[in-house]
Amino acid sequence: MPTRRDFLFSGSALAAASALSLKVKAQTTPSPQVQIPDDVVSLSDFEALARKDAPHMAFEYISGGAADEITLRWNRESLDRIRLKPRILNDVSKLDTRVSLFGQELAFPIILGPTAYHKLVHPEGEKATARGAGNANATMVTSMLSTTTVEDVAQAATGRLWFQTYILKDRGYTHDLIQRAEGVGCKAVFITVDSPVVGTRNRDARAHFVLPPELERANLKGMSRTGGNLRPGENDIYTPILDAGLTWKDIEWLRSFVKIPIILKGVLNPDDADHAVKAGASGIVVSNHGARLLDTVPATIDVLPEVAEKVAGRIPILVDGGIRRGTDIIKALALGANAVLIGRPYLFGLAAAGEVGVAKVVNILLTEFKMAMALMGRPSIASIDRSVLWPK
Ligand SMILES: Cc1cc2nc3c(=O)[nH]c(=O)nc-3n(C[C@H](O)[C@H](O)[C@H](O)COP(=O)(O)O)c2cc1C
Repeated sequence: MPTRRDFLFSGSALAAASALSLKVKAQTTPSPQVQIPDDVVSLSDFEALARKDAPHMAFEYISGGAADEITLRWNRESLDRIRLKPRILNDVSKLDTRVSLFGQELAFPIILGPTAYHKLVHPEGEKATARGAGNANATMVTSMLSTTTVEDVAQAATGRLWFQTYILKDRGYTHDLIQRAEGVGCKAVFITVDSPVVGTRNRDARAHFVLPPELERANLKGMSRTGGNLRPGENDIYTPILDAGLTWKDIEWLRSFVKIPIILKGVLNPDDADHAVKAGASGIVVSNHGARLLDTVPATIDVLPEVAEKVAGRIPILVDGGIRRGTDIIKALALGANAVLIGRPYLFGLAAAGEVGVAKVVNILLTEFKMAMALMGRPSIASIDRSVLWPK
């Protein structure tokens, strides 16, 4: 049976690694039977595993944040600082984790957020992620920057699929891409609105991160490679692909043809949240992009209460950034979120054990969440409100 490390270094990951002259093992066939060591019991254990096994540049690309990674630390520290306030002797013999979002019922409020380039860490890439998500009954948001086309991800998916895109300079391409996603059954589109330019990613640069030539931005086939490029040239901040000229008018444009719910991802300012509601968004994601763009913006959990106050229940609010424990989900819901997204943890699961690893990450988090609900004396999502937290 192939070892986990053989598995990791097979297929595209092998090619990716060898492109950078990394020392790698022989290519083997991927197998969903890859064993996860039995001492891997939390999401941070998956990170440790990936750190040990994944190609260095891939690990650095995934785990890194912008500049000095201060926001990256804050995302975790702020969650850690919040203290829970349980009730006793509440019947928790049955738990109801269901949530309704955009007219769709989710079995639990944990969603796989959009992340780029899954084939960096696993030869089956987004297809393995989609299967893992399906096996865990989780909704996956597949990224515009996937290494597999949205059509192929949809075909592999056994569960609910949502799509994420940027509004590209090429509006015609953006239009067609969203229609392709709708055509293959994606039930919502996340528009990432926090990236007029990319962030200062020193860790990527130090690790010489590049998308290896044998991996492609599969959804952008047809655009020239330069056209699909996300890196600015030297002494420039603008990229050939991202449109730094976006305004709220572009959201109006989207609404003119998109049939599925539109969710704006990357909201931090309460006034922008209000604007999003007025612009007709079906939801927002309070996100600092996993601390990968603008260093020293606050932790998302710290801005969530003000955003929630402004939105006042008019549309659902999702939040991401540093969610690693079931108790983090309780805190996010208590402070006004309807659901959470995770990014890095499932990529580490994918790196460690393909679809099995992705499903395991979701299952660990869900089990922790249910345990926390029970120990908090809160049997339903509706019962998780501010009263579950000690005042600051
Ligand atoms: C490797 C990586 C790639 C990402 N790619 C995208 C992307 O293509 N589109 C997007 O909207 N967000 C992207 N994100 C941000 C995630 O959607 C999400 O906001 C973030 O990862 C959440 O924080 P967490 O990783 O701490 O859970 C990416 C994040 C990571 C770590």
